[in-house]
Amino acid sequence: MATAQTGIFAVGTSSHCFLEFTRRPGSEPGALVRALADLEEPHTTVGGVNLVVGVRPSLWAEVVPDGQPANARDLETPVVGVDGFAMPATQQDAWVWVAGAAPDLVFDVATDVVSALAPVATPASEVTGWSYRHSRDLTGFEDGTENPSLAKAPGVALVPDGAPGQGSSVVLVQQWVHHAERWNALAVAEQELVMGRTKADSVELDDDVLPEDSHVSRTVIEDEDGQELEIFRRNVPYGSVGEHGTMFVGLSADPRPMHRMLERMAGVEDGIRDALTRYSTPLTGAYYVVPALEALAAFVSPGEHLAGEHD
Ligand code: HEM
Repeated sequence: MATAQTGIFAVGTSSHCFLEFTRRPGSEPGALVRALADLEEPHTTVGGVNLVVGVRPSLWAEVVPDGQPANARDLETPVVGVDGFAMPATQQDAWVWVAGAAPDLVFDVATDVVSALAPVATPASEVTGWSYRHSRDLTGFEDGTENPSLAKAPGVALVPDGAPGQGSSVVLVQQWVHHAERWNALAVAEQELVMGRTKADSVELDDDVLPEDSHVSRTVIEDEDGQELEIFRRNVPYGSVGEHGTMFVGLSADPRPMHRMLERMAGVEDGIRDALTRYSTPLTGAYYVVPALEALAAFVSPGEHLAGEHD
């Protein structure tokens, strides 16, 4: 059985750093993948730090031609919706997510990651995240209520054994800035209509009051057989009092449902734009392949250890 990068499912960590990297001109795609594979997770798992690494889908396909999860593609063009609304495509070459129990641990590991990758890649973005009131995002709503349970999440997020890219996942990463003043000017009942759930207890609104432009209405999607299509979300709040928002981190074995959610939020599918996009704006957007540990292990330099594979 292929082994997924364990940090994908390490929920509950309160400190985060998200880094995106651009490959240095002249460095080989394989060299970047080797450098990512060599990143070493600190030895302790208790109170330690998790690393999740992702690779630009087209770059991964170049380096491991038969290891590409089905339908994994770069986010090459913005998702252009209605009313002039668009979600930007800011695809980079690599993504590293450092998550841990405390900001100092995360800072030290993220610093080491930047140094270790320096010969082959330069940081394109860096966002520091933290948990807010346990599992709420900075709109004040609970985020993740309808996520699949941890028992079910691997079935949603990971490519099954036997398929190309087995044990890997496709992640969508978007930095959303919240328009806090506008949002906080709404009454709680109005905010609930935007989200489609109650604020205090995260109960879904009844169908007869649930607006069709609510966030829940836009992101609940079904296949042709009426089966709901799920993704696994690991959203993280980021920022300061002056400017803050949500790092959207969505994982799926097949990115198509996630992309359809984006299009429905933008209004591409039926002209109805997610009300949440009137209070929050995406600043970045990219897809990455999050390879299985075995796929990365093939690139580890002699003498190096792979995350999670210490003696
Ligand atoms: C500013 C950005 C976003 C914020 C603050 C946000 C927040 C929320 C909140 C509060 C919920 C309701 C509670 C829950 O079930 O988790 C929710 C649900 C959900 N969101 Fe988002 N979200 C954002 C962006 C996105 C994006 C970009 C996608 C998809 C690509 C997405 C997909 C979903 C899905 C699938 C659900 C569950 C719907 C259900 O089954 O009821 N969200 N989100």
